[in-house]
Amino acid sequence: MAFAGNFPIMDLPDFGIPPQLARRMSMAEQHEYLRAKLTRRRTLVTAGAVAGGLLTGCSGSEPGSGTAGTRPSPSVSAKVPGSAVTPFGRHLAFGADPKSQMRISWQVPAAVKKPFIRIGLRPEDLSRRIDAEIRDLYTPELQGIRAALEQYYVHAALDSLRPGTTYYYGVGHDGFDPAAPRNRATISSFRTAPASPETFTFTAFGDQGVSEAAATNDKLLLGQNPAFHLHAGDICYANVKGLGEESDAYDPGFWDGYLRQTEAVARTVPWMVTTGNHDMEAWYSPDGYGGQLARWSLPDSGFDARKAPGVYSFAYGNVAFVALDANDVSYEIPANQGHTGGRQTKWLDERLGELRAAKGVDFIVVFFHHCAYSTSSHASDGGVRAEWVPLFARHQVDLVINGHNHVYERTDAIKNGEVGRQVPIGAQTDPTRDGIVYVTAGGGGKELYGFPPGVEESYEGHVADRESVDTFRWTKSRNTKAESVQWSRVRYRGFSFLSVEAEAGAKPRLKVSALAQTGERIDRFEVRRGA
Ligand SMILES: [Fe+2]
Repeated sequence: MAFAGNFPIMDLPDFGIPPQLARRMSMAEQHEYLRAKLTRRRTLVTAGAVAGGLLTGCSGSEPGSGTAGTRPSPSVSAKVPGSAVTPFGRHLAFGADPKSQMRISWQVPAAVKKPFIRIGLRPEDLSRRIDAEIRDLYTPELQGIRAALEQYYVHAALDSLRPGTTYYYGVGHDGFDPAAPRNRATISSFRTAPASPETFTFTAFGDQGVSEAAATNDKLLLGQNPAFHLHAGDICYANVKGLGEESDAYDPGFWDGYLRQTEAVARTVPWMVTTGNHDMEAWYSPDGYGGQLARWSLPDSGFDARKAPGVYSFAYGNVAFVALDANDVSYEIPANQGHTGGRQTKWLDERLGELRAAKGVDFIVVFFHHCAYSTSSHASDGGVRAEWVPLFARHQVDLVINGHNHVYERTDAIKNGEVGRQVPIGAQTDPTRDGIVYVTAGGGGKELYGFPPGVEESYEGHVADRESVDTFRWTKSRNTKAESVQWSRVRYRGFSFLSVEAEAGAKPRLKVSALAQTGERIDRFEVRRGA
């Protein structure tokens, strides 16, 4: 069985776990191995740009009291005045209640004192000042190629905001005041969720990385004026291979580039990420998520925000959203399989039940990384099918969004493992009658994959008849099992993203579109319950 676009492997430094060892190791075992090997003290070397006396990103500096890693000797460039340090990589995320909570995060290229945000209802009045928290992240020298790196992430939590309100904000620290005339260009804004449901748009993709295609997707989705964006994991690809079984070539400097790239959209659009296989980074913590905890402030509405930062839920208008960590259940890449001890799946069952019964919630959208249904390179993950698909069916989830396969692919409505109802482009589907449509939105910017040889790729206006094609899904023994597929309704091999308009009112509906970078709308369908 031949597939195009298998895992990209780049010539990057790694941590040096022998492959024959790492292939048998869980994420926790890899973490212990690396800690034992790499905890010798090293001199920290500034790795980034220091231009014209101004530090603007991509560099390391003074060791601090960070979240992960063993500290090296004091840096040669430890004393950088705050006036010479410019924040970058601003990104937003809702708290558990998008009507009243926002988290503002950013990065500084050197240690700073007393970071803060200024916020107000008008850009010229940012008189309210709120302290921020620094989470620094130390990464040791990698195989003699990449110098040790200290990265400084800064976070501020805003609670008790007004619903449906636009706020203006700036980020700063001792020596850098965003309200100063020379820094006012850094002021940005966000809007909280409305007090009562109204029509809104959200966007989604996974598998982004740092590339021209990724930046173009950011720009295009910003043009949709989304209330927020869902990122289905494989965010940055600092862990290049993402196999969870080898030393997984790794460069933390990729994150600097990623946050720079993302700032153009995420400074105004809450960037709601979850964790994919490339987001496990064995050095920082036994579960591989120490780096993510330093970089992101996500809703604490899951079962344990420290254990699984990519697991949470929130409601916006008449739609509830659930983010899941599929590394916990994946049969294909089992490095973190079972790392929550079943707590995530138990929480999912309970939370879906609560949301289904919640007043004002018309729709439930679930997003996570590994696909329940896809015919591209990684195919379907048997762990997702076994653990979660029955729960989605029991609670009549309205839409499932995945990444992992770097294509766009959308199923018919699936009920009891089979096509419950055909959903051609432009059609309407009712989850209470037909089953669930699963979308793979993996065209976020990373190198594209392909489809099985000989299958049709469908585009709006000329949907091919469904073909039965043998593809595979992963089994618990990590073998693959061929299955004949009839549920694959739309395929598109190109960079793309999902744009969903959620209508409230007497006849609520989700109007789902997939948009290509070419400007084509490659798919569209509607979800309406009880229609
Ligand atoms: Fe992936």
